Amino acid sequence: MNKRLRIAVMASGKGSNLEVIIDAAQQGKCPVDVAMVLSDRPEAGALDIARRSGIEEVVHLDPKAFPDRASFDAACAERIEATGCEWIVLAGYMRILSSHFVRRFPGRILNIHPSLLPAFPGAHAVEDALAYGVKLTGCTVHLVDEVLDGGPILAQAVVPVHEDDDRDTLHARIQEQEHRLYPETLKRIAEAGFTLEGRLVRWNKPD
Ligand code: GAR
Repeated sequence: MNKRLRIAVMASGKGSNLEVIIDAAQQGKCPVDVAMVLSDRPEAGALDIARRSGIEEVVHLDPKAFPDRASFDAACAERIEATGCEWIVLAGYMRILSSHFVRRFPGRILNIHPSLLPAFPGAHAVEDALAYGVKLTGCTVHLVDEVLDGGPILAQAVVPVHEDDDRDTLHARIQEQEHRLYPETLKRIAEAGFTLEGRLVRWNKPD
């Protein structure tokens, strides 16, 4: 396969995953072009990172300016399609995508989630793992389908939970792994690609 991926990153938060992807791309370690960054929050650190890094299209769309989720998502989809991005990379995007949006980009939306899915889906994965008392947790890169945090799994990394962890210390340890795993997974998609068998991801051999 061996090609560069043109990607749009959607982010709501501080943007550390976006930053490592941009850095890896600029250092020639990850064959992606971040053509667009889109956020639903004007104060998202991800927008500052994108502007600082010279990303072509840096877009904030306000969900409150749209009558419903479907019309907001349709506006996002139109902006993304206009940039010619073939992959959408969710990096801390904290809104649930409508089915219509997901169907518009079948098998082309990636997400990173701060737990070992299928454990602890949803918006409070780190707190939920701590409250449950698991000794190991981690992060998951997966394809997005219409089930929340339920799409086919591309890659996972395991992180130990320490007895004195709180949400922030555990999340920081998970993020160290996220920052390695997300660029690595994008590289593997570009260089080898994968085949889906039902919900099983089979990685192709690199050329
Ligand atoms: C990441 O830890 C990511 O796994 C999580 O948000 C954080 C964003 O961090 N995503 C979710 O919880 C999605 N349900 P960042 O803004 O520093 O990249």
